Amino acid sequence: MPDPASGKVSIVGAGSVGTAIAYACLIRGSAGALALFDTNAKKVHAEVLDLNHGSQFVPSCPVTGSDDAGVTAGSSIVVVTAGAKQKPGQSRLELAATNVAMARSLTPQLLVHSPGAVVIFVTNPVDLVTYAAAGAVDLPAGRVFGSGTVLDSSRFRYLIARRAGVNVGNVCGAVTADPGRGGRGRAGSRGAAGGQGAAGSAGLRGDADRGAGRPGSVRAVSRTGPSWAGSAGASSCDPARTPRGRTSSDRR
Ligand SMILES: NC(=O)c1ccc[n+]([C@@H]2O[C@H](COP(=O)([O-])OP(=O)(O)OC[C@H]3O[C@@H](n4cnc5c(N)ncnc54)[C@H](O)[C@@H]3O)[C@@H](O)[C@H]2O)c1
Repeated sequence: MPDPASGKVSIVGAGSVGTAIAYACLIRGSAGALALFDTNAKKVHAEVLDLNHGSQFVPSCPVTGSDDAGVTAGSSIVVVTAGAKQKPGQSRLELAATNVAMARSLTPQLLVHSPGAVVIFVTNPVDLVTYAAAGAVDLPAGRVFGSGTVLDSSRFRYLIARRAGVNVGNVCGAVTADPGRGGRGRAGSRGAAGGQGAAGSAGLRGDADRGAGRPGSVRAVSRTGPSWAGSAGASSCDPARTPRGRTSSDRR
């Protein structure tokens, strides 16, 4: 994969998620150039102006935007956040029809403009949308993928950290399956909280017992099946973080 820091990163969908990703790319110096594509011309132009107006505070990176997908041409990475949002009362699966159709038509177009790009889907329901997008193009594995359970895992780690009274940098955890319809009970997850018996201090719903093996190993079982399991460790679980939870880029 080309080095994203020297390549062009395009973001499709200049809504809340797309612009947050754009901002994160800018402050981390993740891209050599940044492009935003959104079917809402006014919105994308306004967001590009905002990002450019803050350019004195971030590493140098030209930011362009358009309601024409051509603005993404020559990208190393294309991040797709375009699509409808989940409405109150609407399930993730009900979102699927619209966003799956969008992904199927959009992905081939994006690859015409950027034939070598890696395409990352964030649009929900992300696993279904990504599967549909990958099926719409003939590419080797690893060229079209989704953000998967990254956000779920991050929320999971935050919740364990809060309940256990430790910094999130000292919590290992991963949600390994989409929560699915209704969003409960089906996810398989693993977690560990530094220096604490994770299940006891996390107070997660379910029956916690001490697991065999390493000290502090715990297992929590929900009423509907294994929910998460893990073991306590004293040091940071994520090499990008210090034990106090700051990212390595915070220290630059
Ligand atoms: N995977 C995750 O962890 C995760 C987390 C948060 C949000 N999401 C999902 O990300 C998506 C975006 O959320 P948001 O809050 O930014 O929504 P938003 O409504 O703020 O932004 C979506 C943008 O997409 C644009 N758009 C729609 N169809 C388009 C198309 N065909 N081509 C280009 N642009 C198009 C819209 O004009 C809008 O500006 C949603 O599906 C949301 O559920 C995923």
